[in-house]
Amino acid sequence: MFLVLALLTIGGLVTLTSQRPGVLDEISMLEATNSSLLRYPTDFTQDIVPKPIHSHNDYWRDVPLLTALSFGVASVEADVWLVDDILYVGHEMAALTPDRTLDSLYIQPLLSIIEGQNPKSQFTVNQTSINGVFDTSSGTPLQVLVDMKTDGQITLPFVLKALQPLRERGYLTTCVSNGTCTLGPIVVVGTGNTPLAGIQALSPRDVFFNAPLIELNSTFDITISPIASTDYEVAVGWSGIGNINQTQLAAIQKYVGDAHALGLRARFWDTPGWPIHARNNVWQTLMDNGADWLNADDLEAAATIF
Ligand SMILES: *[C@@H]1O[C@H](CO)[C@@H](O)[C@H](O)[C@H]1NC(C)=O
Ligand SMILES: *[C@@H]1O[C@H](CO)[C@@H](O)[C@H](O)[C@H]1NC(C)=O
Ligand SMILES: *[C@@H]1O[C@H](CO)[C@@H](O)[C@H](O)[C@H]1NC(C)=O
Ligand SMILES: *[C@@H]1O[C@H](CO)[C@@H](O)[C@H](O)[C@H]1NC(C)=O
Ligand SMILES: *[C@@H]1O[C@H](CO)[C@@H](O)[C@H](O)[C@H]1NC(C)=O
Repeated sequence: MFLVLALLTIGGLVTLTSQRPGVLDEISMLEATNSSLLRYPTDFTQDIVPKPIHSHNDYWRDVPLLTALSFGVASVEADVWLVDDILYVGHEMAALTPDRTLDSLYIQPLLSIIEGQNPKSQFTVNQTSINGVFDTSSGTPLQVLVDMKTDGQITLPFVLKALQPLRERGYLTTCVSNGTCTLGPIVVVGTGNTPLAGIQALSPRDVFFNAPLIELNSTFDITISPIASTDYEVAVGWSGIGNINQTQLAAIQKYVGDAHALGLRARFWDTPGWPIHARNNVWQTLMDNGADWLNADDLEAAATIF
């Protein structure tokens, strides 16, 4: 009896399928025909949720910038070297190639991505804000740390010049001298040899300074520094194995509090990478105590924290 019923049911399904495709068939058909119903202009980062992760040494990845974006990483870092008036990207001089420049690895891809996120159409004629790189959160900017490896005074003007294509389209977060800031899709922060005085002298200012998290003072307001960073080993030192002690916990809380009092976001770099459970303990403890950026080499692992 049961067998007969089952056969009848299956027979019924077969009949239905021949009349009308099932939902999975229809999905396959639409995908196979590249239907315009499935595409929209800003789908480059479709479904990707931005996360407060900083891609440490981003340019080391097989595909700089894009891999970070694919994980929703909202902060990337490029080490730049000024050689014969060109800004090359790499960890050391021996790692440089003519093809890998700040322009080719970061500026041009960002231009193209942000232009794609801001299509000109009958639907956007009245839009005044500029969409950022993340389709799920168009108001979330991407932070780009430019770590100047060569002399800061000499390198800074070239960084400013390299940013011109982004600047002229209004893509850079900018502060004017009266303290008014306009948030753009990108926040550029100079690190490494970036000279504080050179950043302070910019007006309008669209390159900011990575403030020293353990030596903050009133100089570093948000018109100078959106971010404050420190070497975790120096500032905290807990290995992530066993329990964090009171001194170490108090240090995290003090430095995070100092940054937040000035409106800055706190980042600890040089956190332990190994063993994995220790790395995760440190990450979790930092985030639980208000750190704003998770500094990560393994982006996939960091993305699972959020
Ligand atoms: C799919 O269609 C879009 C335009 O809607 C076109 O740009 C793209 O090249 C097409 N892709 C393929 C694989 O045909
Ligand atoms: C843009 O603004 C005009 C004038 O207010 C209005 O007529 C038009 O419908 C608006 N278009 C869109 C897409 O919102
Ligand atoms: C600051 O300057 C900008 C343009 O330079 C202006 O739009 C804004 O109103 C000014 N804000 C204040 C508070 O003076
Ligand atoms: C704040 O720190 C900076 C950099 O360490 C220093 O140049 C500046 O003089 C300090 N300002 C004050 C008000 O202490
Ligand atoms: C916490 O550990 C550090 C070593 O990292 C040590 O110097 C400090 O005395 C310890 N503090 C407490 C309260 O145990």
